[in-house]
Amino acid sequence: MAKDRSYVFSFQKCCYVVTISSICSIILFLSWTHCCSQCYPPFPYQTTLQNQNQLINLLSYPLAWNNLIFPSNPPPKLLKIALFVKKWPQRSHAGGLERHALTLHLALAKRGHELHIFTTSTTPTFSNHSIIDDLHFHFSKPSPAGYLDQAIVWEQFQLQNSTIRPFDIVHTESVGLRYTRSRYVTNLAVTWHGIAYETIHSDIIQELLRPPQESQTNAMKERTIKVVEEIKFFTNYAHHVATSDHAGDILKRVYMIPEERVHIILNGVDQQVFKPDISKGNEFKKKHGVPDSKSLVIGLAGRLVKDKGHPLMFEALKQIIEENNTFIENSMILVAGDGPWAARYRELGSNVLVLGPLEQGGLASFYNAIDIFVNPTLRAQGLDHTLLEAILSGKPVMATKLASIVGSVIVGNEMGYTFSPTVISLKKALYDSWVGGREILNNKGQVARERGLQLFTATKMVAAYERLFLCISSLDNEDNFCKYHPLGN
Ligand SMILES: *[C@@H]1O[C@H](CO)[C@@H](O)[C@H](O)[C@H]1NC(C)=O
Ligand SMILES: *[C@@H]1O[C@H](CO)[C@@H](O)[C@H](O)[C@H]1NC(C)=O
Ligand SMILES: *[C@@H]1O[C@H](CO)[C@@H](O)[C@H](O)[C@H]1NC(C)=O
Repeated sequence: MAKDRSYVFSFQKCCYVVTISSICSIILFLSWTHCCSQCYPPFPYQTTLQNQNQLINLLSYPLAWNNLIFPSNPPPKLLKIALFVKKWPQRSHAGGLERHALTLHLALAKRGHELHIFTTSTTPTFSNHSIIDDLHFHFSKPSPAGYLDQAIVWEQFQLQNSTIRPFDIVHTESVGLRYTRSRYVTNLAVTWHGIAYETIHSDIIQELLRPPQESQTNAMKERTIKVVEEIKFFTNYAHHVATSDHAGDILKRVYMIPEERVHIILNGVDQQVFKPDISKGNEFKKKHGVPDSKSLVIGLAGRLVKDKGHPLMFEALKQIIEENNTFIENSMILVAGDGPWAARYRELGSNVLVLGPLEQGGLASFYNAIDIFVNPTLRAQGLDHTLLEAILSGKPVMATKLASIVGSVIVGNEMGYTFSPTVISLKKALYDSWVGGREILNNKGQVARERGLQLFTATKMVAAYERLFLCISSLDNEDNFCKYHPLGN
């Protein structure tokens, strides 16, 4: 959709040039594109999408940077990077934001950049500055509310910044560095993993699903106030990274941040870990007793909580199991993860296997064992990693019609199914995927993987961030990393 719009826009711009420019009027016989390039300065929309030979100004590139191809050779310049993140995760036990922080910054360090991580530690014996995995850690005690203590981290940061080599770039995961300090930093990018405006959709869904005996909350009213607060303080961050196309649009249009300060970089996951492997899938099925006769194996993964849509999934499965015997004979549901809904799922009988939480390797096998991955999440924020993992494993995906998902991940039914957050709609999607059969699912899985390899690998994400950091850090000097040539990077 963005493509069509840009095309029309550049066309109109050109027509406008044609009508006002006398030189152009004389040479009207030239094609409009030619005219455009002759009479009008390079126009990012047109150059990115229409003319493969022109430089793109990355800062105003309207699409996800994952669409661009950056060379994988060693970086042209090694950067000293500061990262502010509330909590540094313990390997595989990490939520979305932490996983993102870990994958991205370990990879940047591996590429030779000097990483300084300002984060909290609750271990009483922590040393203030340690080097682990090539990363320099600057630990501090969390504030009573569990945030980074801004006064301490700022002092630690200043100390590092006043050594022989100041920081080239400062990155903060969400409000790790709060706006009270970020406003003083021009070479800064913040990555938002969720903004209040997106959550309004979740609030609406939760209210619609609220059982009559539970009382209404003030969530919705409070959320709009939160949006207004965010609009006011977000402007104190120099550059913004949105992790979905939808969030990028909201930041530009609703939060009114100038376009050249908003950049879209979709999350990526490790493509060496999450990849198709039939034998791993078969072993996993054998190990967990999934009979070969089952023609549909449905997978669910993650925290089994209300927010992630498990009440909805539970109800849909319960109804299908009750009303359709053939479904029970043909299908199996594998649930990886734990949480309050694990016990409910177990009540559904022997067709539902609750596996508990899996380590990364186990999770990779799990994706290979299933025919379709379902994520019934009601959280409209951020870009869910499990969908990306399933996609890179070559599996079709089914998820709620949330703007970030339909706008960036399941952009068409070639790669899966989407449903409205109602039991009826979810049941219909589940029946559709079953009736279609394994061959259709396999085809969708292949399309999903092809698109995933283009957009959702960790390598893509890391290359995009590296280039963004090079670009922002070079804004006041002549190496212009902000220009991109479609044919030669
Ligand atoms: C860490 O070291 C810095 C610089 O010496 C100091 O200012 C800061 O208070 C220390 N932080 C903690 C938590 O000990
Ligand atoms: C970091 O140090 C550089 C070089 O002294 C200085 O220009 C820059 O303003 C400092 N950054 C911050 C946020 O203090
Ligand atoms: C179960 O659902 C399938 C697919 O919608 C349908 O073809 C079949 O007739 C149903 N079976 C029963 C027993 O309702």
